Amino acid sequence: MSRTSSDVLVIGGGIIGLVTAWRAAQRGLRVAVTDPEPGGGAARVAAGMLAAVTELHYGEETLLGLNLASAERYPAFVAELEAASGLDTGYRSCGTLAVALDTDDRAHLRELHALQRRSGLESEWLTGRECRRLEPMLAPGVRGGLRVDGDHQVDPRRLATALLTACERAGVIFHLGWADRLSVVRERASGVVLADGTRLAAGQVVLAAGSLSGRLAGVPEEVLPPVRPVKGQVLRLTVPPAYAPFLHRTVRAVVRGSHVYLVPRENGELVVGATSEELGWDTTVTAGGVYELLRDAHELVPGITELPLTETRAGLRPGSPDNAPLLGPTALPGLHLATGHYRNGVLLTPVTGDAMAAVLAGGELPEEARPFSPLRFPPPAAPAATTPAPATATTPASVPQEQPV
Ligand code: GLY
Repeated sequence: MSRTSSDVLVIGGGIIGLVTAWRAAQRGLRVAVTDPEPGGGAARVAAGMLAAVTELHYGEETLLGLNLASAERYPAFVAELEAASGLDTGYRSCGTLAVALDTDDRAHLRELHALQRRSGLESEWLTGRECRRLEPMLAPGVRGGLRVDGDHQVDPRRLATALLTACERAGVIFHLGWADRLSVVRERASGVVLADGTRLAAGQVVLAAGSLSGRLAGVPEEVLPPVRPVKGQVLRLTVPPAYAPFLHRTVRAVVRGSHVYLVPRENGELVVGATSEELGWDTTVTAGGVYELLRDAHELVPGITELPLTETRAGLRPGSPDNAPLLGPTALPGLHLATGHYRNGVLLTPVTGDAMAAVLAGGELPEEARPFSPLRFPPPAAPAATTPAPATATTPASVPQEQPV
């Protein structure tokens, strides 16, 4: 294909953009991705919990269906991706233990357990002693917990690298630059202009730029996704061989209202996350963030203070008004969204790739993805006019027009 023209142009080379590109290329479409650093983004920070059951929240029952559909696909998805890329993704079906440290935590976990059971999910209530039998490094004060063997993990960095290789092998073209502006011709998305002025043309454009998706110039305001950045600080520690296995499965808790989780990898990495902060585009790692994570993790597993602290990092989750992703066509012909995955980007990678490829290949959103159409959000109300519009104004909602690229 020409380097500047494709059937599908994906804006954003994080895991969501990459899986969309890979799956679309598998359907025989000519696909390009634009990103200054493909394989980067929030997946470089994320812990990679596949926690459909332990991260269940009230009011998110519709999202649960999508999360479960994706979790179910994970084993086959990673097997296919590992075969296509020749790379390991670090997928581990290790299970998760959510524990309570005090009476309030226990009441909260009991409620979560009841909600899980009402939703038909598998989880088992354990006493504190039973929790410690499973995970001897847990603090003696643990009061009980929920064992969820179906919540697994993957290494998001390896996942991103494997997706990048699979895309390259499937013929996806990469443009290493920022998309500066969406091009719209005759009220249809037709490509992008990169920051260096390069024009890329495409039959269909997918906006998959994570928390940045709401900022692309040229996207008509009524179509701009309502996505905002939600900062998460995450720590990485290393378990020396003499201490292994430090933990056998993901361990998590709510400590004084804050979520903390410890995700042990087979290679000795122990990921501790995560803060949740509405601070705009700030990605500073703060002393307070690191302190709170270590304090809460230490209450759960006192032995972590012995481990080397090897990395501290902050990333931006793409939050949406209902905490669920925006998938599929927008009101602007030719423009699709794959963004707003918030806490569940890694978990939702397989199902997002399948849904987007189905749409891009000319079909409809699959059943499980239909509730997540971007059209569920009404366009922002126009500001009240201070002066009456001229009676002759007949132009419809403003769509910036450009020459074809
Ligand atoms: N799903 C984990 C997080 O967003 O911190």
